[in-house]
Amino acid sequence: VDTSDEWIYTRTGIRERRIASEQETTATLAFEAAARALVIADMHPSQVELIIVATSTPEYIFPSTACRVQDYLGATRAGAFDLSAACSGFVYGLSMAAQSIQSGAVRNAVVIGAETMSRVLDWQDRGTCILFGDGAGAVVLKGSSVPGGVLASTLRSDGSGGDMLSLPAVYHNPMPMLGPEYLHNGHQNNTVAMNGRQVFRFATQVVADSVEETVLKAGLTMDDVALIVPHQANIRIIQGTAKKMGVPMDHVIVTVQDHGNTSAASIPLALSVGAAQGKLKQGDLIVTEAIGGGLAWGAVVLRW
Ligand code: COA
Repeated sequence: VDTSDEWIYTRTGIRERRIASEQETTATLAFEAAARALVIADMHPSQVELIIVATSTPEYIFPSTACRVQDYLGATRAGAFDLSAACSGFVYGLSMAAQSIQSGAVRNAVVIGAETMSRVLDWQDRGTCILFGDGAGAVVLKGSSVPGGVLASTLRSDGSGGDMLSLPAVYHNPMPMLGPEYLHNGHQNNTVAMNGRQVFRFATQVVADSVEETVLKAGLTMDDVALIVPHQANIRIIQGTAKKMGVPMDHVIVTVQDHGNTSAASIPLALSVGAAQGKLKQGDLIVTEAIGGGLAWGAVVLRW
């Protein structure tokens, strides 16, 4: 497409991204991430009680990606399902899994964000094909009598903005969504369509509010927050949101330069990088936040 490294870097902050090999799928990436997380958590797959895969790029509507991961892992006692909340999928999954543990329904859960976005891009559309990458990340949550973990969450949606960012399902030609005509005009079917400018404007309006609301729900203030781990869509959205919250950029984990926008995978990937760099310290208050297709957005506050 007609673009340049300079344009991409200055508008998005992206330098590199990863593209899955032909042998890899969303399920194999998700499995690798989950298997590594279980090793770190010192848990055998047979102990896992719930597997949630947040993804917009499953190979199948059913069987779910989560069921394939369950099988690959040999997690013989786990329930498993996919969660569809686009780029906010990991935040939604973290919230759901924590509540399942807090209610006593399960003792632990593996939450995975996994995507092969490269397979659903229109590679002729320079407004989208330069943004997205492939990847997967996973966390293991366990119930504990020690205070901490997920403290509060806020989940929000506005379906009236669905036409701003969409990916049609593969099984039929969907009816055009109500909204601006141009979105699916000239787009290949079953590829991502986006009005980048509208998404950008919406993102910078709502995310900071949901973070502040969630921190308040946890009975804390923004001064207590050690680190923000945002969805990695665009450096300018990340910077704008941090500014709105009054959080300095050295309290924000940024990986968009290395991964691009990996949708539901971006936050667990950023957590993984943050952990490897020693930035996530036990007892720190950490906030994850995301916005994406739906529109769906939200935030989770957790004590690491
Ligand atoms: N290379 C070069 N030029 C490009 C381009 C590319 N890859 N993509 C778009 N352009 C052009 C446009 O055609 C337009 O040209 P024109 O003025 O001649 O019409 C110009 O750049 C400006 O386009 P615009 O869409 O206004 O650019 P922008 O500053 O908004 O940046 C995005 C585009 C996509 C980078 C930006 O809108 C964005 O990041 N939005 C949020 C998207 C996102 O994060 N979505 C996922 C949320 S989960």
